[in-house]
Amino acid sequence: MEFTENLSTNRKSAADRAKVLADPGFGDFFTDHTAVIDWSASGEGHGGTWHDARIEPYGPIALDPAASVLHYGQEIFEGLKAYRHEDGSVWTFRPHANAARLNKSAARLALPQLDEDVFVESLRKLVASDIDWVPTGDGEALYLRPFMIATEAFLGVRAAREVSFRVIASPAGNYFGGELKPVAIWVSRNYARAGRGGTGSAKCGGNYAASLVAQLEAEDNGCKQVLFLDPFNDNAVEELGGMNVFFVTKDNKLVTPALTGTILEGVTRSSVIQLAKDRGMDVEERRITLDEWREGIASGEITEVFACGTAAVITPIGVLKNGTELIGEENAKAGDVTMSIREELLGIQR
Ligand code: COI
Repeated sequence: MEFTENLSTNRKSAADRAKVLADPGFGDFFTDHTAVIDWSASGEGHGGTWHDARIEPYGPIALDPAASVLHYGQEIFEGLKAYRHEDGSVWTFRPHANAARLNKSAARLALPQLDEDVFVESLRKLVASDIDWVPTGDGEALYLRPFMIATEAFLGVRAAREVSFRVIASPAGNYFGGELKPVAIWVSRNYARAGRGGTGSAKCGGNYAASLVAQLEAEDNGCKQVLFLDPFNDNAVEELGGMNVFFVTKDNKLVTPALTGTILEGVTRSSVIQLAKDRGMDVEERRITLDEWREGIASGEITEVFACGTAAVITPIGVLKNGTELIGEENAKAGDVTMSIREELLGIQR
């Protein structure tokens, strides 16, 4: 698919860009361009065509107020990063894995499939247009946010016949801000994230919208993220508001909740599993309950816990707050296995 290019005549100045790159934080600043491809249905079924692939200046989207994304949340997204290597070249990490996951999410949300190579080409074109925005600092990268929205103006509830795929980019440092340190996690007891047959394994905005009230509760209790359990399955650990969770055991095993259809199949999750296997660790993808977490920390069976995701990379978890109960230590140090897998992953990405 050919992309037309309408490059910005109003790019941010080198000085403004340098200010952002000196301390990018996460998600506050955006580059000068966006990639866009539109889709129109050809009839009443699922068929249709992608058209008008283009790079255009970053800016607000003109949407009809009746666009179905605004009413029924027919939306999916991805997150991946472009890294600057030592020789100055820029590389994304496993972009085809994100392309494949986008299509799985699209299938669940009744959105059209996008050819994987076209997905990757849209990233390539955007990164090439905004190459000066890729940071060079340790743990920093250009975060890419592809997303697909239902743009058709129609209030009946059915799959939209007009859709837009877009990619925006944002220079990123530590998701949690400042230096990397173990984070405190709040156990959500009032809200679940997903149910069987629902959209838990799709990367759709609605899952994140539904996590926000629990995230507010977490913040009110001094925590950075919320942990969701499956209350109908012995409080099995599911995932955090925006990341997967891993446990390291004293006999050097790695345990993570199995993909049951209610949690997100993280690209970083699968990279961590592969790296752990490559270094000879046993990896168990299985059910792990809150009780096992509590007892494992108390007995010393569980030695480290960490969160992972594209945005979070690998972030050590310090304490888990379950109401007034504390599981783990308030000022715990980052674990050695956690940090060594993190370094190895970042090393490959960089
Ligand atoms: C990502 O890690 O890319 C996500 O989409 C999660 C979100 C917390 C930013």
